[in-house]
Amino acid sequence: MLEIQHVTKAYKDQIVLNDVTLTLKEGIYALLGPNGAGKSTLMSILSKQLNFESGQVLWEGKDIQAWKEDYYDLIGYAPQQQGLYDEFTGRRFLTYMALLKNVDKKDIDQEVERVASMVNMQDQLEKKCRMYSGGMKQRILVAQALLKEPKLLLFDEPTAGLDPKERVSLRDIFSKLAKDHILLIATHVVSDVESIAKEIIFLKQGRIIAQGSVETICQETALSLEDVYLNLFQKDTNL
Ligand SMILES: Nc1ncnc2c1ncn2[C@@H]1O[C@H](COP(=O)(O)OP(=O)(O)OP(=O)(O)O)[C@@H](O)[C@H]1O
Ligand SMILES: [Mg+2]
Repeated sequence: MLEIQHVTKAYKDQIVLNDVTLTLKEGIYALLGPNGAGKSTLMSILSKQLNFESGQVLWEGKDIQAWKEDYYDLIGYAPQQQGLYDEFTGRRFLTYMALLKNVDKKDIDQEVERVASMVNMQDQLEKKCRMYSGGMKQRILVAQALLKEPKLLLFDEPTAGLDPKERVSLRDIFSKLAKDHILLIATHVVSDVESIAKEIIFLKQGRIIAQGSVETICQETALSLEDVYLNLFQKDTNL
């Protein structure tokens, strides 16, 4: 269980996360919000790449600051700004990431095959990353996040720029992972998460402004999730 308690983050005078409190258990949590809402900032904090001013984040009851290197074994992160090594083959990229994650050398080949199969990329591993389509790039990024079987998966706009077929394919992968993982997926696209998310979290200017299951949100508002999203954010010029 991951508990985010009253987390506030500012860059100079600008507060970008404002008293964010959330508890994440197994299943899919969708973080929905327009550009600049603070989605990636929250992801960076949860992956311990960014410090914050106040509040705390607890993993299994223990502050993530108190977790040492072993915290990195618990999380898999596919960031929004994706660095793929263009000249690497998919296999080399995953092997390299496995080395960075300290996967035992003797287990690396098997682990690379395992994560590649989970995203249906096992037959594409000899191609160079620059040859991959956008969807294949996203899938290999998801694959690296799965190395060493982390419990908490952070996916920052994993479906950006993908065609509908690839969106469905990734959605199915996330859905399978939901059984025994905690997934936090940041997105602008309601339809990517509507059918799979246990909970929707609407983030606006660093604040959680609405939260709940799709069913609850839609019942309470008597609107579709897409319309709720539009109502909450349409006034934003930077949507
Ligand atoms: N390194 C930084 N220095 C200063 N301000 C920053 C920095 N990184 C992000 N910000 C600001 O923090 C706010 C939140 O940014 P963030 O990237 O978390 O938003 P986001 O919800 O992920 O947006 P998007 O949908 O565009 O990815 C923005 O106003 C952004 O300008
Ligand atoms: Mg972002």
